[in-house]
Amino acid sequence: MASVRVVLLGPPGAGKGTQGKLLRDRFEACQISTGDILRKAVADKTPLGKEAESYLSRGELVPDDVIVRLVGERLKQKDCANGFVLDGFPRTLPQAESLEEILKTMALPLDAVLSIQVPHDVIVQRLAGRRNCQNCGALYHVNFDPPSNGETCDRCDGGLQQRDDDREETITTRLRVYESQTAPLANYYRERGKLREINGVGKVEDIQKRIVEALGRPAS
Ligand code: AP5
Repeated sequence: MASVRVVLLGPPGAGKGTQGKLLRDRFEACQISTGDILRKAVADKTPLGKEAESYLSRGELVPDDVIVRLVGERLKQKDCANGFVLDGFPRTLPQAESLEEILKTMALPLDAVLSIQVPHDVIVQRLAGRRNCQNCGALYHVNFDPPSNGETCDRCDGGLQQRDDDREETITTRLRVYESQTAPLANYYRERGKLREINGVGKVEDIQKRIVEALGRPAS
């Protein structure tokens, strides 16, 4: 199995989690979602969770040093041996510079940074209708990808919930933070020849095809 080492860049609701899971399965890589790791830490009330909770609920970024340490440790785990899909990291210039250092030490250069582009009105629709399984974390959307019985998870029958930070006022903050702190990373990676821009509108499987093509890998 060919390995993959990519970053998914894009605003909240662009589909990083959705596409990241598909890439993980396709390439037998690990998916590192910093948002998922932080939300689990908050739910488990770990020291990391207690530190991160107020940032998440305000829609602001957790301090760089905390996140960089977390990703650095996670990349060393066994399930990342065949590559990684970074979903939600890096999100600031210092995080991008730290990642470059970490990957240099590990002699694992990035294949590409996939910037998923979605207009504002689509983002708002996607975030407002997103639901997650409380038990297994599976992702749904009330209109675009509802569970078959409309209420519980198809995979494990767990209850579905809305993320705390998918409230309207927090979405506004997250989008503002994205524009000011994360969007500039596109230039950082463009200058390094790593950026691939992906149209993130359309069916999930069509977007996955665009991503695989942009990586120069066979479609099936
Ligand atoms: P995080 O969890 O990373 O949130 P985010 O970047 O805001 O992204 P989302 O998870 O909201 O969206 P997504 O792009 O993954 O879209 P999804 O696939 O779910 O971060 C949360 C918080 O953690 C941050 O605010 C911050 O506080 C902290 N944090 C995380 N990383 C950090 C870092 N590096 N540094 C500092 N702080 C950090 O899709 C959305 C919905 O749309 C779903 O319902 C899905 O089913 C649906 N959908 C997806 N694709 C399609 C499609 N093609 N058509 C129709 N519907 C679709």
